[in-house]
This record gives sequence, C-alpha cells and structure tokens, in this order.
Amino acid sequence: MTDFRASHAKAEISLNVNGEPRKVRAYPMDRLLDVLRLELGLTGAKEGCGEGECGSCSVLMDGALVNSCLVPVLQAAGANIVTIEGLAGGESLHALQEAFLECGGAQCGICTPGMILAAVHLLNGMPDPTIDEIREGLSGNLCRCTGYTQILESVGEAARRRSSVQQTGRLKTTA
Ligand code: FES
Ligand code: FES
Repeated sequence: MTDFRASHAKAEISLNVNGEPRKVRAYPMDRLLDVLRLELGLTGAKEGCGEGECGSCSVLMDGALVNSCLVPVLQAAGANIVTIEGLAGGESLHALQEAFLECGGAQCGICTPGMILAAVHLLNGMPDPTIDEIREGLSGNLCRCTGYTQILESVGEAARRRSSVQQTGRLKTTA
C-alpha cells in the first residue's frame, strides 16, 4: 500500500471490472493492484517488483495494458478493467489460456496472468504477429522460469488457432 494517505479520506470509487460494475471504498492513491486483490478478491494480478518493471501486475484498463502497481485507483474510476479472471467464458478457457497450458507457457505462474493479458492486448491490435512482434509485444513482462520460448510459442499458437477458426466464432482472443 502507498503512504500518500495522510491528507486524503477514503472515497467511494466506481469502476467496471470484468464486465461488472463494482464500488470500492479506497484512498484515492491506493494502488489499483491492491484494490483488485484486497478489496475485490481478484488475486490473479501479482505483485512482483511493485515499480512498473516486471509486468506481473498487468491488467487492461479501457483496452490499454497497464501496470496496476502504478495506477492510483482514482485514475481507474469509471474505467473498464479486465483481469485474468475475466478472460475465461464460464467453463471455457480463453484461447490464450489453453495455448499456455498446452505449450508449457506457464511454470511457476507468477508472470502468467500478466503475460496473457499482454498477449491479449497484442493480438487485439495485431492478430497475426511474427515471432519478433510477439517478443516486442511482451517485452514489458518478465519471466524467471521459462526462458520465454514456450511463452512465445503459446502466443503464436493462439494466434494461429484464431486465424484458422475465425469464421466459426468458437475461439475468442479478445477481451
Ligand atoms: S509489480 Fe507491477 S510492474 Fe512489477
Ligand atoms: S512462469 Fe515463473 S516467472 Fe514466468
């Protein structure tokens, strides 16, 4: 938690999280990461560095990829937030989640929610990326386990699957 609280009172802040309107009472400078994890129980976003360097806390905010450890919750008021918990459709995993499972893109799992959201962001803007474009798109997200190869393969596989079944609408890589 940040210490910028002394002169601020808690306020009710409304935001839309994974398609649902939510209200929280929080200090304006509380980090979005803490509000998601501690107030809303969405623990998918992880704290790694806490300084905007590792991407393990990545979420989508109005379609942009942000490090939630750097976003004061007041800045997220009224925004649409997507966390890893919002990707699966009921029992059906998101195409990227399936690909990460099948290609070994997740090991300890700390970086995985942020990696997958970075990949969602990438594929939303670039449906058929090259391996270098995937590497660039995920460059803000660090992994200490996989050596990145399986992660790059996972994203490439999800993109290939989407392009091969796009007409059927069975696979979803957008959020
Ligand atoms: S915990 Fe947010 S970027 Fe590392
Ligand atoms: S899977 Fe462990 S940090 Fe990436």
